[in-house]
Amino acid sequence: MIQGKRIVLGITGGIAAYKGATLCSRLVQAGAIVHVIMTESATKFITPLTLQTLSRNEVFIDTFDERDPSVVSHINLADHADLIVVAPATANVMAKLANGHGDDMLSTTLLAATCPLIIAPAMNVHMYEHPAVIRNMELLAERGAMFVEPGTGQLACGYVAKGRLAEPEDIVAAIEAWFAKTNKLKGKHVLVTAGGTMERLDPVRYLTNDSSGKMGFAIAEAAKLMGASVTLIAGRTTEKPPSGVTLVRVQSAADMLEAVTSLFPQVDIVVKAAAVADYRPAKIHEQKIKKTGNSLVLEMERTTDILQTIGEQKTHQLLVGFAAETEHIERYALDKLRRKNCDLIVANDVSAEGVGFNGDTNAVEVYGQEGLVKALPLMSKRETANRLMDLIAERLVKRGGNME
Ligand code: CTP
Repeated sequence: MIQGKRIVLGITGGIAAYKGATLCSRLVQAGAIVHVIMTESATKFITPLTLQTLSRNEVFIDTFDERDPSVVSHINLADHADLIVVAPATANVMAKLANGHGDDMLSTTLLAATCPLIIAPAMNVHMYEHPAVIRNMELLAERGAMFVEPGTGQLACGYVAKGRLAEPEDIVAAIEAWFAKTNKLKGKHVLVTAGGTMERLDPVRYLTNDSSGKMGFAIAEAAKLMGASVTLIAGRTTEKPPSGVTLVRVQSAADMLEAVTSLFPQVDIVVKAAAVADYRPAKIHEQKIKKTGNSLVLEMERTTDILQTIGEQKTHQLLVGFAAETEHIERYALDKLRRKNCDLIVANDVSAEGVGFNGDTNAVEVYGQEGLVKALPLMSKRETANRLMDLIAERLVKRGGNME
């Protein structure tokens, strides 16, 4: 998994810096191309020459020590990395990254990087439990950083507590697991719908709903990270689209129906996270509707159910629908699953705290033909999306859908 991968290894100034050398060695032995960046403080614990010898590459410390005039080193390292690993990561380097500081080689490289990031913290237990450190780690996790938690044991400061750097083998295992995950949906085409539809009433008015598109965008990103080719059909949303996915913007349920059905034959997985209007105004007024009497009655007509339509056309595709409910979650979810011929239904109780349309968190229950498959507790939409895509990929494997 690691063979030929370009890994930037950031080593920061804690006593565990010496374990960074073992980690570097293991990664090189596994076939990775490792570029080490050390902070000035890290060089107080272990010499750059050790890391240069183990990585067989020059070690970067000073942003301004540019040896190759054809590149800007921190940008070049960031642009070409498949993964950045910071181990050990001090409270300081996490605070800098969480707050966007770039004052040395490692912090500028981290800011310039768009590749995934694995952080293995190591520090005294009270530092690790400090609210500021916890907040910074939460912020980084929300932005997608993965953590290899420190272990419990004898700390350099004398405490026996949580804070010692995870063992190099465990960090290597986390790196391997990450690269294995990026292969899980290789060769698969995933279609995701997200956001709310907009149903025009007149040139200046439309009907829509509270969907933010966050869940669907997070799912598209998770599928992309698993190596799939992803098409994201998005209705109304202000979310920034994940990089590397094909984005198709639509407005109405009819536009979404057309976009989905035209792509459907070629895709392997469809995740319908969009909140599609069930009704639309029967007439779109060409001119702005002027106010007249005390009340206005709008005539609405049913839209086509996109999920049901593709459910009827389904051949090899794995179909995942969503169900936003406020009561009888299981009964309604299973009813939708059967009616719309889905393989999985992701249901949530949108009346619960922290669950639903506009927030950053979600708690979902996933149902299959056999009933409840998995209940995922309240967590960030990004984490929910990762866990959902893991389940979906497992289903595909179970069905033999990824045997090419
Ligand atoms: N859906 C769709 N096309 C529509 C309406 C909904 O594809 N015209 C999809 C959504 O993308 C979602 C699922 O169907 O995956 C939601 O099911 P739906 O029955 O529309 O949910 P509700 O609107 O909550 O339905 P009900 O009013 O029956 O509870």
